[in-house]
Amino acid sequence: MVQTQVLPYGPEAIAAAARLIREGLPVAIPTETVYGLAADATDGAAVARIYEAKGRPAFNPLIVHVRDLDQAMALAEVDAAARSLAELYWPGPLTLVLPVRDGSPVASLVTAGLPTIAIRAPSHPAMRDLLAATGKPLAAPSANASGRISATRAEHVLASLGGRIELIVDDGPTAHGLESTIVAVGRDGLRLLRPGPIDLGLSSVGAGAGPIEAPGQLASHYAPAKPVRLDVTAAATDEWLIGFGEVLGDATLSGSGDLVEAAAALFDRLHEAERGDCPRIAVAPIPDSGIGAAINDRLRRAAAPR
Ligand code: TXA
Ligand code: MG
Repeated sequence: MVQTQVLPYGPEAIAAAARLIREGLPVAIPTETVYGLAADATDGAAVARIYEAKGRPAFNPLIVHVRDLDQAMALAEVDAAARSLAELYWPGPLTLVLPVRDGSPVASLVTAGLPTIAIRAPSHPAMRDLLAATGKPLAAPSANASGRISATRAEHVLASLGGRIELIVDDGPTAHGLESTIVAVGRDGLRLLRPGPIDLGLSSVGAGAGPIEAPGQLASHYAPAKPVRLDVTAAATDEWLIGFGEVLGDATLSGSGDLVEAAAALFDRLHEAERGDCPRIAVAPIPDSGIGAAINDRLRRAAAPR
C-alpha cells in the first residue's frame, strides 16, 4: 500500500506529477472527459504499472495523449483525413486510431502489439501542463480499478485506486463525464469505434467498413502467426522458447522473475519469436498473481487454436 496524495491542480501538483512520471510511476490527472491514469508511453514498465494499479486482468490497447498534431506525427501516420479531423477537433475529446509510424518510441504494451495506435490531444489544462512538463506522450486509460465505472471526480479515483497510486491531481468534476469518441481512420474511410462527446455523424457501421469493434473486444487483437505452447520448461528443438525467471529460454520476459518487467516485454518477445526461424513458439510458466493474470490472459489468446 502506498499513501495516495491528493493535490489541487496547480504548479506544485504538476511538478510532483511530472517527477513521478519521470520515475516511471502512473499518476491520476483530470482530462475534459474523465480522470486518466497517466504514464510515460515510451516506458514499457511504467505502462505495465498502469495495469498493475488498475488490477486489470487483461491487456487492452491504451489511448496515447499528446500536446498537438506535431507530437502525434512522431508516433503515427497522419493522412489528410486524419489531419483535418485533428485540426477541427484537437485539443478535445476525439481519439484517432492510426497506423503506427516506423520508429515510433511508444512501448509495444501501449498498443498491445497492434500495428495501429489510438491518439488524442486533450484540452484540459492539467493534462496539457503535464504533457508539457514531461515532454512525453502519455498513455492513460480512465483512472478507475478494473470493472468499476469511469472516474469523473478525484473522489472517485481515490475510492477506486487509493493506496495503489502515489498521486491524484484534483480539479473537480470533469466537463464531459464521458470517454472520448474513438474513430479509426483507414483507407476504407472512417469507422466509429466508440461513441462519445464528439458526434461526427458516423453510424456504428462506418463508410465501407465492417462491424463495430467494441472497446475491449477488438477483432484485430494481435496474435502471433505461429502456434504457441504454454507452461513449457523444456522446449522442443523446433520451438523458440520465451523464458521467465529460472526458465532462461532463447529470450526472456524477465530473468529476475519480475512480472512488471515481463508485461513490458511481452509483445516485443512475441514479435521477435514470430520473426525468427523457429516454426513454433513456447512460453515458460508465468505466475498468475497481480499483473501475471493479464500476461496469462494474453498468452492464452495467443495460444488458442485459430
Ligand atoms: O476520454 C478518454 O479517452 C479517456 C481519457 C483518460 O483520455 N481515456 C480512455 O482510454 O478512455 P482507454 O485506454 O480506457 O481507452 C482505450 C480504448 C480501448 O478500449 C480500445 O477500444 C481503444 O481505446 N483503442 C486503443 N487503441 C486502439 C487501437 N489500436 N485500435 C482500436 N481501438 C483502440
Ligand atoms: Mg476505460
